[in-house]
Amino acid sequence: MAEDSESERVLGGRFSGVQSELLEAINASIDFDKRLWRQDIAASLAHCQMLEHVGILSASDASSIREGLAAIQSELECGEFRFSASLEDIHMNIEMRLTELIGEAGGRLHTARSRNDQVATDFRLWVRERCDAALTGLGELMQALLAQAEAGADMVMPGFTHLQAAQPVTWGHHMMAYVEMFGRDRGRFRDCRSRMNESPLGAAALAGTSFPVDRHMTADILGFDRPMGNSIDAVSDRDFALEYLAAAATTSAHLSRLAEEIVLWSSHQFAFAKLGDSFTTGSSIMPQKRNPDAAELVRAKTGRVNGALIGLLTVIKGLPLAYSKDLQEDKEQVFDAADSLKLSLAAMTGMLAGLRPDAARLNEAARGSYATATDLADWLVRETGLPFREAHATVSRLVLAADRKGTGLEGLTLAELREICSGITEQAQDVLDTRKSVESRLSYGGTAPVRVKEQIQIWKEKLACEPV
Ligand code: ARG
Repeated sequence: MAEDSESERVLGGRFSGVQSELLEAINASIDFDKRLWRQDIAASLAHCQMLEHVGILSASDASSIREGLAAIQSELECGEFRFSASLEDIHMNIEMRLTELIGEAGGRLHTARSRNDQVATDFRLWVRERCDAALTGLGELMQALLAQAEAGADMVMPGFTHLQAAQPVTWGHHMMAYVEMFGRDRGRFRDCRSRMNESPLGAAALAGTSFPVDRHMTADILGFDRPMGNSIDAVSDRDFALEYLAAAATTSAHLSRLAEEIVLWSSHQFAFAKLGDSFTTGSSIMPQKRNPDAAELVRAKTGRVNGALIGLLTVIKGLPLAYSKDLQEDKEQVFDAADSLKLSLAAMTGMLAGLRPDAARLNEAARGSYATATDLADWLVRETGLPFREAHATVSRLVLAADRKGTGLEGLTLAELREICSGITEQAQDVLDTRKSVESRLSYGGTAPVRVKEQIQIWKEKLACEPV
């Protein structure tokens, strides 16, 4: 088989006989790690530059390597590169092609490196890029949330606990809760990005190399802060990918909560908000349907991301140092999780841009759900000196009376109110107003529109000075 002899040329002549097709099937990673080609070429160029600089490679070999890699890059870019499964992975595919193109000099590129430090470097570079993409995607999502918050800073809606209407809040306040969550998610991506930004290149197979390499130089060229301090750790560590996945899983959980709310809100029963037509699907049988498919899928994609995190934790658990082939199973799930995250962030941003809250319906839902009961209890405490526990009991009797009458608390007459609690005056009826209720919650971080607008301003400034 032609391909077997190819692989022999790279790995050396120790192997006689034909590799089992099953070995090739289980061993080859090219079908998925071809996604690392850009990083592989960038790392090879850095390695080549360093080898030339320290005198391991001649200037002419280095220059043909550069030319060869440039040619391979264009083949890859225009889809002309022929991948071979018998060459296992992207590293050997590129190296083999290089030697095919430039001859002997191609074989010198692998001096003082191993696929172990090569793959660790490529993968780190890839995950680092995805951290940056997540930061950008989250930034855009936060902008969309800020726009919703600004438009709805005065829009009263019921706030929920246990999915029971609890107290009136504003749409803006609710949106800003997500801004806080996604802001922390950005912090997590930033943290793991800065921790992962060390270069494994030059760790070679595991022990380092006897060649006089300059690891600081390659680290520098590739934008890493420094070389990793322990070559064994450098080739066996995948916690950078774990941290990325943990941050991605947390973000996905947040996206899923928001998606769940959009699904609820856009239902006929809640009717709190409408999704734009561009994010709504119809039903093939029920003409009235406006299905929130994108929100449902964002909610569901969380499963893939969580799965990837558990998957990688399981691959790494129990692996002896340093490199084991198990580590090849680190990539596919990270790729899938990163794709899911990118798509979910973009879809959520798109949905939010067209989401139209129904101000009248939101306020009506807040008014019709005894959401101002706590305001009345607070009023009794403040104005009549009743202990809060007693005020609580009194208001719950009032709620019962209103319920029997089939109305909200504001539907009880003053006489009816005073029948149950003689201390109540006309003034108390004021606090039953949902708008007055939200306006009164002026505590820091509270739902009062002035407070929410302050927070919107703070976040706008934050996002403006730290775009990523
Ligand atoms: N394809 C391998 C991976 O993804 C590259 C490293 C192979 N190293 C080795 N010693 N066989 O992990």
